[in-house]
Amino acid sequence: TVRRLAAPDIAVRKGGVPIVCLTAYTAPMAELLDDHCDLLLVGDSLGMVVHGLPNTVGVTLEMMILHGQAVMRTSRKAMVVVDMPFGSYEGAPEVAYANAARLMKETGAQAVKVESGETVVETVEYLVKRGIPVMGHVGLRPQAVLVDGGFKAKGREVEERARILSEAKATAAAGAFALVVEGVAEGLAREITQAVDVPTIGIGASAGCDGQILVTDDMLGLFDWTPKFVRRYGDLRGEISKAVAAYAADVRDRKFPGPAEIYFAKAANT
Ligand code: KIV
Ligand code: NA
Repeated sequence: TVRRLAAPDIAVRKGGVPIVCLTAYTAPMAELLDDHCDLLLVGDSLGMVVHGLPNTVGVTLEMMILHGQAVMRTSRKAMVVVDMPFGSYEGAPEVAYANAARLMKETGAQAVKVESGETVVETVEYLVKRGIPVMGHVGLRPQAVLVDGGFKAKGREVEERARILSEAKATAAAGAFALVVEGVAEGLAREITQAVDVPTIGIGASAGCDGQILVTDDMLGLFDWTPKFVRRYGDLRGEISKAVAAYAADVRDRKFPGPAEIYFAKAANT
Protein backbone atom coordinates (compact mmCIF):
# COMPACT_ATOMS: atom_id res chain seq x y z
CA THR A 1 0.00 0.00 0.00
CA VAL A 2 1.10 3.57 -0.64
CA ARG A 3 1.64 5.92 2.24
CA ARG A 4 -0.36 9.09 1.91
CA LEU A 5 1.60 12.35 2.15
CA ALA A 6 0.95 14.45 5.25
CA ALA A 7 1.81 17.93 6.50
CA PRO A 8 5.45 17.15 7.48
CA ASP A 9 6.15 15.73 3.98
CA ILE A 10 4.96 18.96 2.39
CA ALA A 11 6.66 21.22 4.95
CA VAL A 12 10.12 19.81 4.21
CA ARG A 13 9.83 20.63 0.52
CA LYS A 14 10.60 24.32 1.00
CA GLY A 15 12.84 25.48 -1.85
CA GLY A 16 12.86 22.05 -3.54
CA VAL A 17 11.04 20.69 -6.58
CA PRO A 18 7.86 22.80 -6.80
CA ILE A 19 4.88 21.27 -4.98
CA VAL A 20 2.03 20.34 -7.36
CA CYS A 21 -1.44 21.11 -6.00
CA LEU A 22 -4.94 21.25 -7.47
CA THR A 23 -8.44 21.52 -6.06
CA ALA A 24 -10.64 18.39 -5.95
CA TYR A 25 -14.30 18.14 -5.02
CA THR A 26 -15.53 14.78 -6.31
CA ALA A 27 -14.49 11.14 -6.18
CA PRO A 28 -13.80 10.55 -9.91
CA MET A 29 -11.74 13.72 -10.29
CA ALA A 30 -9.77 13.03 -7.10
CA GLU A 31 -8.86 9.58 -8.43
CA LEU A 32 -7.46 11.10 -11.64
CA LEU A 33 -5.62 13.97 -9.95
CA ASP A 34 -4.05 11.75 -7.29
CA ASP A 35 -1.66 10.25 -9.88
CA HIS A 36 -0.05 13.63 -10.53
CA CYS A 37 -0.44 15.83 -7.48
CA ASP A 38 1.32 16.15 -4.12
CA LEU A 39 -1.64 17.87 -2.50
CA LEU A 40 -5.37 18.02 -3.23
CA LEU A 41 -7.34 20.91 -1.76
CA VAL A 42 -11.03 20.47 -1.14
CA GLY A 43 -11.43 24.22 -1.63
CA ASP A 44 -14.49 26.18 -0.65
CA SER A 45 -14.35 27.38 -4.26
CA LEU A 46 -16.65 24.35 -4.67
CA GLY A 47 -19.46 26.68 -3.66
CA MET A 48 -19.01 28.60 -6.90
CA VAL A 49 -17.64 25.86 -9.15
CA VAL A 50 -19.95 22.98 -8.19
CA HIS A 51 -22.93 24.59 -6.45
CA GLY A 52 -23.40 27.79 -8.47
CA LEU A 53 -23.09 30.24 -5.56
CA PRO A 54 -21.95 33.82 -6.39
CA ASN A 55 -19.00 33.58 -3.93
CA THR A 56 -17.74 31.33 -1.14
CA VAL A 57 -19.60 33.00 1.72
CA GLY A 58 -22.57 30.60 1.54
CA VAL A 59 -20.50 27.42 1.82
CA THR A 60 -21.30 25.31 4.91
CA LEU A 61 -19.32 22.88 7.05
CA GLU A 62 -21.67 20.10 5.89
CA MET A 63 -20.84 20.81 2.23
CA MET A 64 -17.11 20.68 2.99
CA ILE A 65 -17.53 17.38 4.84
CA LEU A 66 -19.47 15.69 2.02
CA HIS A 67 -16.95 16.74 -0.63
CA GLY A 68 -14.01 15.95 1.65
CA GLN A 69 -15.34 12.42 2.14
CA ALA A 70 -15.74 11.94 -1.63
CA VAL A 71 -12.16 13.08 -2.31
CA MET A 72 -10.72 10.90 0.47
CA ARG A 73 -12.48 7.78 -0.84
CA THR A 74 -10.64 7.69 -4.17
CA SER A 75 -7.32 9.47 -3.61
CA ARG A 76 -4.51 7.39 -2.16
CA LYS A 77 -1.19 9.21 -2.08
CA ALA A 78 -1.79 12.96 -2.25
CA MET A 79 -2.20 14.90 0.95
CA VAL A 80 -5.80 16.12 1.27
CA VAL A 81 -6.50 19.53 2.82
CA VAL A 82 -10.05 20.73 3.47
CA ASP A 83 -10.96 24.43 3.53
CA MET A 84 -12.70 25.72 6.63
CA PRO A 85 -15.73 27.62 5.29
CA PHE A 86 -16.74 31.20 6.06
CA GLY A 87 -18.11 31.49 9.59
CA SER A 88 -16.56 28.30 10.94
CA TYR A 89 -13.26 29.63 12.34
CA GLU A 90 -13.12 33.45 12.56
CA GLY A 91 -14.61 33.70 16.06
CA ALA A 92 -13.45 31.98 19.25
CA PRO A 93 -10.54 29.55 18.80
CA GLU A 94 -12.53 26.92 20.75
CA VAL A 95 -15.30 27.03 18.14
CA ALA A 96 -12.75 26.88 15.31
CA TYR A 97 -11.20 23.84 17.01
CA ALA A 98 -14.54 22.03 17.31
CA ASN A 99 -15.30 22.67 13.63
CA ALA A 100 -11.80 21.75 12.44
CA ALA A 101 -11.85 18.55 14.51
CA ARG A 102 -15.20 17.64 12.96
CA LEU A 103 -13.80 18.20 9.45
CA MET A 104 -10.78 16.01 10.23
CA LYS A 105 -12.73 13.20 11.90
CA GLU A 106 -15.56 13.00 9.42
CA THR A 107 -13.41 13.24 6.28
CA GLY A 108 -10.09 11.69 7.34
CA ALA A 109 -8.23 14.58 5.65
CA GLN A 110 -4.69 15.45 6.79
CA ALA A 111 -5.17 19.18 7.42
CA VAL A 112 -7.45 22.18 7.21
CA LYS A 113 -6.90 25.54 5.52
CA VAL A 114 -7.97 28.95 6.82
CA GLU A 115 -7.80 32.38 5.21
CA SER A 116 -5.30 33.80 7.65
CA GLY A 117 -5.70 37.51 8.18
CA GLU A 118 -4.21 38.88 11.40
CA THR A 119 -7.29 38.09 13.50
CA VAL A 120 -6.96 34.39 12.67
CA VAL A 121 -3.30 33.96 13.64
CA GLU A 122 -4.14 33.13 17.28
CA THR A 123 -6.51 30.41 16.05
CA VAL A 124 -3.85 28.89 13.79
CA GLU A 125 -1.59 28.46 16.83
CA TYR A 126 -4.49 27.11 18.93
CA LEU A 127 -5.30 24.43 16.32
CA VAL A 128 -1.71 23.39 15.59
CA LYS A 129 -0.89 23.05 19.30
CA ARG A 130 -3.86 20.70 19.61
CA GLY A 131 -2.84 18.44 16.75
CA ILE A 132 -4.57 19.92 13.73
CA PRO A 133 -2.19 20.76 10.85
CA VAL A 134 -3.15 24.10 9.32
CA MET A 135 -2.43 25.64 5.94
CA GLY A 136 -2.65 29.44 5.82
CA HIS A 137 -3.94 31.58 2.94
CA VAL A 138 -2.84 35.20 2.47
CA GLY A 139 -3.13 37.91 -0.17
CA LEU A 140 -6.40 37.76 -2.05
CA ARG A 141 -8.81 36.17 0.42
CA PRO A 142 -12.00 35.15 -1.40
CA GLN A 143 -14.06 34.92 1.81
CA ALA A 144 -13.46 38.67 2.32
CA VAL A 145 -15.10 39.51 -1.03
CA LEU A 146 -18.01 41.34 0.60
CA VAL A 147 -15.72 43.82 2.39
CA ASP A 148 -13.24 44.02 -0.49
CA GLY A 149 -15.88 44.54 -3.18
CA GLY A 150 -14.65 41.99 -5.70
CA PHE A 151 -11.84 39.56 -6.47
CA LYS A 152 -8.90 41.94 -6.95
CA ALA A 153 -5.13 41.56 -6.92
CA LYS A 154 -3.64 42.44 -3.53
CA GLY A 155 -0.57 44.16 -2.17
CA ARG A 156 -0.17 46.70 -4.95
CA GLU A 157 0.04 49.58 -2.48
CA VAL A 158 2.90 49.85 -0.02
CA GLU A 159 0.73 49.65 3.12
CA GLU A 160 -1.25 46.63 2.02
CA ARG A 161 1.94 44.97 0.88
CA ALA A 162 3.44 45.34 4.36
CA ARG A 163 0.28 44.00 5.97
CA ILE A 164 0.21 40.91 3.76
CA LEU A 165 3.88 40.21 4.42
CA SER A 166 3.32 40.51 8.16
CA GLU A 167 0.24 38.24 8.01
CA ALA A 168 2.27 35.65 6.12
CA LYS A 169 5.09 35.76 8.67
CA ALA A 170 2.67 35.61 11.61
CA THR A 171 0.76 32.64 10.12
CA ALA A 172 4.00 30.73 9.58
CA ALA A 173 5.23 31.63 13.07
CA ALA A 174 1.90 30.38 14.50
CA GLY A 175 2.75 26.93 13.14
CA ALA A 176 1.12 26.66 9.70
CA PHE A 177 2.87 23.97 7.62
CA ALA A 178 2.41 25.85 4.33
CA LEU A 179 0.85 29.04 2.99
CA VAL A 180 -1.32 29.65 -0.03
CA VAL A 181 -0.36 33.03 -1.50
CA GLU A 182 -3.08 34.32 -3.81
CA GLY A 183 -3.32 37.22 -6.22
CA VAL A 184 -0.21 39.22 -5.40
CA ALA A 185 2.55 40.72 -7.58
CA GLU A 186 5.68 38.67 -8.17
CA GLY A 187 7.89 40.85 -5.94
CA LEU A 188 5.65 40.36 -2.90
CA ALA A 189 5.28 36.61 -3.57
CA ARG A 190 9.08 36.28 -3.64
CA GLU A 191 9.46 38.40 -0.53
CA ILE A 192 6.96 36.24 1.37
CA THR A 193 8.61 33.04 0.10
CA GLN A 194 11.97 34.28 1.39
CA ALA A 195 10.58 35.51 4.69
CA VAL A 196 8.88 32.29 5.82
CA ASP A 197 10.47 28.89 6.42
CA VAL A 198 7.44 26.91 5.21
CA PRO A 199 6.48 26.35 1.56
CA THR A 200 4.42 28.98 -0.24
CA ILE A 201 1.85 27.68 -2.71
CA GLY A 202 1.07 30.31 -5.31
CA ILE A 203 -2.12 31.04 -7.23
CA GLY A 204 -1.78 34.18 -9.29
CA ALA A 205 1.46 34.76 -7.41
CA SER A 206 4.24 33.98 -9.95
CA ALA A 207 6.64 31.05 -10.26
CA GLY A 208 8.58 32.48 -7.31
CA CYS A 209 6.59 30.33 -4.86
CA ASP A 210 7.53 26.85 -3.59
CA GLY A 211 4.52 25.29 -5.31
CA GLN A 212 1.47 26.10 -7.41
CA ILE A 213 -2.26 25.54 -7.14
CA LEU A 214 -5.15 26.22 -9.51
CA VAL A 215 -8.85 25.53 -9.36
CA THR A 216 -9.02 22.32 -11.40
CA ASP A 217 -12.25 23.29 -13.14
CA ASP A 218 -10.63 26.58 -14.27
CA MET A 219 -7.52 24.96 -15.75
CA LEU A 220 -9.59 22.28 -17.47
CA GLY A 221 -11.90 24.87 -19.03
CA LEU A 222 -14.89 23.43 -17.18
CA PHE A 223 -15.80 26.49 -15.13
CA ASP A 224 -16.33 29.47 -17.38
CA TRP A 225 -14.34 32.09 -15.48
CA THR A 226 -10.79 32.86 -16.44
CA PRO A 227 -8.84 35.33 -14.33
CA LYS A 228 -5.48 36.44 -15.71
CA PHE A 229 -3.59 33.86 -13.65
CA VAL A 230 -5.38 30.78 -14.99
CA ARG A 231 -3.74 28.84 -17.80
CA ARG A 232 -6.22 26.68 -19.69
CA TYR A 233 -4.80 23.19 -20.12
CA GLY A 234 -8.05 21.80 -21.50
CA ASP A 235 -11.44 22.69 -22.95
CA LEU A 236 -13.82 20.38 -21.12
CA ARG A 237 -16.79 22.70 -21.70
CA GLY A 238 -16.18 22.35 -25.44
CA GLU A 239 -15.75 18.56 -25.15
CA ILE A 240 -18.92 18.14 -23.10
CA SER A 241 -20.91 20.39 -25.38
CA LYS A 242 -19.83 18.41 -28.46
CA ALA A 243 -20.63 15.07 -26.81
CA VAL A 244 -24.06 16.18 -25.58
CA ALA A 245 -24.95 17.71 -28.97
CA ALA A 246 -24.04 14.42 -30.68
CA TYR A 247 -26.15 12.44 -28.19
CA ALA A 248 -29.13 14.77 -28.63
CA ALA A 249 -28.93 14.49 -32.43
CA ASP A 250 -28.69 10.67 -32.27
CA VAL A 251 -31.71 10.42 -29.96
CA ARG A 252 -33.79 12.68 -32.23
CA ASP A 253 -32.74 10.67 -35.32
CA ARG A 254 -33.39 7.33 -33.55
CA LYS A 255 -29.72 6.45 -34.10
CA PHE A 256 -29.26 5.85 -30.38
CA PRO A 257 -29.59 3.27 -29.00
CA GLY A 258 -28.49 0.93 -31.80
CA PRO A 259 -28.43 -2.88 -32.01
CA ALA A 260 -25.27 -3.19 -29.89
CA GLU A 261 -26.82 -1.17 -27.09
CA ILE A 262 -30.08 -3.04 -26.50
CA TYR A 263 -31.11 -6.29 -24.81
CA PHE A 264 -32.69 -9.22 -26.62
CA ALA A 265 -35.25 -11.53 -25.09
CA LYS A 266 -34.13 -15.14 -24.46
CA ALA A 267 -35.63 -17.75 -26.71
CA ALA A 268 -38.69 -19.32 -25.07
CA ASN A 269 -38.00 -22.64 -23.25
CA THR A 270 -39.13 -25.59 -25.40
O1 KIV B 1 -11.03 27.36 -2.47
C1 KIV B 1 -10.04 27.23 -3.21
O2 KIV B 1 -10.09 26.61 -4.27
C2 KIV B 1 -8.77 27.83 -2.75
C3 KIV B 1 -7.60 27.75 -3.67
C4 KIV B 1 -7.82 28.48 -4.93
C5 KIV B 1 -6.33 28.14 -3.03
O3 KIV B 1 -8.71 28.34 -1.68
NA1 NA C 1 -10.66 28.55 -0.55
